[in-house]
Amino acid sequence: MNFDFRLWDIHIGAPHAFNERAPQIDNGATRPSPDRYHDKAFADAEWEQVFARSWLFACPASDVREPGDFARFDIGRESFIIVRGEDGDVHAHYNVCPHRGSQLVLDDVGSLAKFTCPFHSWQFDLDGRNIAVTDPETFRPEVLCHDRDMTSVRCEVAAGLVFISMDPEVAPLTEWLAPILPHLELYEMDQMYVIQHRKSDWGANWKGGVDAFAEIYHLHAVHPQTQCLMDDRTQIDLYPNGFSRQFVPFAQPSRRFADQEAVNPGIALMLRDAGIDPEQYQGTAHETRADVQRAKRKRSDELGLGYERFSDTQLSDSTVYSVFPNTQLGCHPEAVFLHRFLPHATDPNQFTYDTIILYRHVDAPGYRPPAWMGLSEEIDTSGETRPDVVRTGLGEPPGLGEVLDQDSDLLPIVQAGARSRGFRGPLWSEQEARLRHFHAELDRRMQGATS
Ligand SMILES: [Fe+2]
Repeated sequence: MNFDFRLWDIHIGAPHAFNERAPQIDNGATRPSPDRYHDKAFADAEWEQVFARSWLFACPASDVREPGDFARFDIGRESFIIVRGEDGDVHAHYNVCPHRGSQLVLDDVGSLAKFTCPFHSWQFDLDGRNIAVTDPETFRPEVLCHDRDMTSVRCEVAAGLVFISMDPEVAPLTEWLAPILPHLELYEMDQMYVIQHRKSDWGANWKGGVDAFAEIYHLHAVHPQTQCLMDDRTQIDLYPNGFSRQFVPFAQPSRRFADQEAVNPGIALMLRDAGIDPEQYQGTAHETRADVQRAKRKRSDELGLGYERFSDTQLSDSTVYSVFPNTQLGCHPEAVFLHRFLPHATDPNQFTYDTIILYRHVDAPGYRPPAWMGLSEEIDTSGETRPDVVRTGLGEPPGLGEVLDQDSDLLPIVQAGARSRGFRGPLWSEQEARLRHFHAELDRRMQGATS
C-alpha cells in the first residue's frame, strides 16, 4: 500500500481496492447551488435531514473511561451528555431536565455519581432515570405520572471514538463506519488520550470548513510556508457513505518548491520527529521521507510499537480521513488530530471549529506528537490530566498555529464571496474530489436517504 504520486487515482470501494476507478457520482456537469453555504432554510433542512439522522462523533472514549465519567457534546441547537454507566457501557442523553428543560451539565468533562439539575435539584442516575423530585408532595399525581426520565439517544463506540445519533432507527455504528473502520482501528485510539482540546468560532458555514480541510490544492496560495516540507499532489480515495481519505506526504518538499536538495527548517522538523538529528543527516530533502519511514520502523522494532501494521506512507505522512458529515481525522502512529465542524444553532454563516489531539506517550528519547500539530513544550503529554477546553471567539486567532490561523482568516472571506448573488456555485477539480464526494452524499441525504 505504498504511496504513489499519480494525482488522478481516485479510488472507491473496499479498503485497498486500488484498481477500481471512481464511478461518476455527480454527473460531472452538476454545479451545486451556492445557497447551501448561507441559506437559513437550507441549514434548517440540513439539520433535520443530515444531523438529526446521522451518527455524529461525540467524544473520545478515553474521556469516559470510568463509571460516572462524562463529556458534554454541543452541536447546533443541541447539547448531549455522554456518560460511562455503572454497567460499564457508554450512554448518551440530551442535556435537558424533563422538569422545565434546563441543561443539567455545564462542564465540558468531569465525573459524577448522578446528575442534579441546577434549577430545582431534580436528580437522575447515569442511565438518565429520575431518582429524586424535590417536594414531590406539591405535584398533582397526574403531573408526576408523566415520564420524568431524561431523553436518551443512540450511543455506540468504535475505534476508540464515541458516536451518538438522534435517530433511534439509525443503522449500527460499525455497519455504517465499515468502509473505513479497519483503517481507523490501526491507530489504537482506544489507548490514546486528549492532550489538547480547542474550540474556536469562525465566520463561515460549517461546510466551508469541511471543504477547506478536505483539499490541499490551496496550500501554495494560503500556506506557502508548507511547501518546503509537504507535497500537495496526492492520492485520494473515496468510500461509500461520503467517507474519503487522502495521503498528505510529509518530510518531502512540494514539487512547486524550488530547492529539492537542502535540508530546510521544515525538513529538519520532520527528521527530529523520527529521532534523526538534522545536524548529522547526510541525505537530501528529497530523500528525507524514506529515511523518516526507515527510522520509525527501526524505532518500532526497538520499542515493540508494532508498526508492521502500518504502510510506509502511514508512518511518514498525515493519513487524513473524512467521516461524514462533519468530522475529519489526521492520523499518525503517534497521534491523531481530530477536528470537527459544528454548525451554529441559528446562523448558517458561522460554525465552531473543534479540534482534539489524541496521543499515547511512549517513553523513549525524542518520542513526541508530530511537530506540525504545534503543541507547546509545556503541554502535559502523560495522559494524567485531561486538559480544559480552550475557547476563542469570532475573529480571534484560534491559537492553533500559523497554518490554522491562516485558514481562520481566509474562510470568512470565502463565505462573504459565496453569499454573493454573483457566485454561481463551486467548480471542483480532481484535487477537490473529496469535496465533490461529500456534497454528493449531502445531496443524497437531503433528498431523504437515511444511510
Ligand atoms: Fe488550509
